[in-house]
Amino acid sequence: MLENIEKYLQEVAAFESNDPARIEQFRIRFAGRKGIINELFAAFKNVPKEDKPRYGQLLNRLKQAVNQKVAELKAAAQESKSSQGGGLDVTRPGYPYRLGARHPVMIVRNRILDIFRRIGFNVSEGPEIEDDWHNFTALNLPEYHPARDMQDTFFVELHPDWLLRTHTSSVQIRYMEKHRPPIRTVSPGRVYRNEDVSARSHLMFHQVEGLYIDTGVSFADLKQTLLYFTREMFGEKSRIRMRPSYFPFTEPSAEVDVYWGLETEEDYRITKGTGWLEIMGAGMVDPNVLRNMNIDPEKYSGFAFGMGIERIVMLLYQIPDIRLLFENDMHFLEQFKSVL
Ligand code: DAH
Repeated sequence: MLENIEKYLQEVAAFESNDPARIEQFRIRFAGRKGIINELFAAFKNVPKEDKPRYGQLLNRLKQAVNQKVAELKAAAQESKSSQGGGLDVTRPGYPYRLGARHPVMIVRNRILDIFRRIGFNVSEGPEIEDDWHNFTALNLPEYHPARDMQDTFFVELHPDWLLRTHTSSVQIRYMEKHRPPIRTVSPGRVYRNEDVSARSHLMFHQVEGLYIDTGVSFADLKQTLLYFTREMFGEKSRIRMRPSYFPFTEPSAEVDVYWGLETEEDYRITKGTGWLEIMGAGMVDPNVLRNMNIDPEKYSGFAFGMGIERIVMLLYQIPDIRLLFENDMHFLEQFKSVL
């Protein structure tokens, strides 16, 4: 019993805190109504007679020590509070700001734009709600043209001529309305198609359009520009191939594939066993489009291309389902925190 009190004395001597709540806890533990000191006083009657004087002495010392400690610590806590200005503890670590992360679509979009900026393209944008002229007619798709069926369109009820743009090619037209050649511009943005949502397609996605118009621009310039792009995007060793295709706004037109490889089972799956992946459409700007924009096709020529951003995001980060990109699940998005 005597050793017990001695241990408590040591504990009291060692106790330090400038937190008022902890000091109060300490006080209650020892000097509270059901505290240690009262308990020890209650036990006094059971102490062997010969120990009673020493026990009483030690117990009184403990009581005093506790009172003194509490008074000292309280005074010190009060002192530090007022010297730091109204209860504000300036030594506490600050609250960390939770940094957001860039969305993977924006990460890839920025990379694409940077790659073209380095070879003299500027960045232009146009509206997501378009009219028929900019989205179709000026791009050499007249009303009766069968190629309009290639894209299922969302129309805007407010006006019979309005729609959600189905591609960023509409920005080519807007850009040529305002600028004369030479033109080098890339136009990123959202596009909309009335399609069923699935793992591979969404009714809203992103494209980057490119337009280059000058004197003497040839298909070889297009090919070299796209080869430069794929090497910057997918690595030094990338190869491309161009397959003849059809777009009303380009002639000739091509579909551009990048060689992805056939090393893993996954490569077989995403390239359907060919090793090649389609990443964009491209071609030489159709003379009719230039004429629509009052640019003389005898003097100027140019190329254009358009690519889907999600497609490239899914390839680069091995994302199996496009819907993951638009569900805004924090667990998914936070994985891109370290990517700039
Ligand atoms: N607008 C086409 C699409 O959405 C992509 C495209 C193909 C854009 C060829 C172009 C081009 O500028 O020349 O599928």
